[in-house]
Amino acid sequence: MEWERIAAESELGAGVNGALSTAVGHDRVAVFRTDEGLFALDDVCSHEYSRLSEGEVAEGQVACAKHGSRFDLRTGAVTGFPATRPVRAWAAKAEGGWIWVSRLPG
Ligand code: FES
Repeated sequence: MEWERIAAESELGAGVNGALSTAVGHDRVAVFRTDEGLFALDDVCSHEYSRLSEGEVAEGQVACAKHGSRFDLRTGAVTGFPATRPVRAWAAKAEGGWIWVSRLPG
């Protein structure tokens, strides 16, 4: 698994709901800190354009700020409409004072 260093760990938590949004190559990735650890998803909602990093996080899901679709933080699966397509989930970790993400296969 190839990890990409995306930000200092201290940057996480400064944004809305403790989320961080950053570019990884051509992708935009949202990293969320929760009581259960770090999670990362594509930052762009699969419904229309909105950043999931600006959504509300609760019970292992993020709710899109635009129309309220919900996505599972672990898998990117849709858990609440109107979105019908999942977003891609990434692996995320904090190590050495940095946040790292990696594309999951598939
Ligand atoms: S843009 Fe996210 S639910 Fe519509």
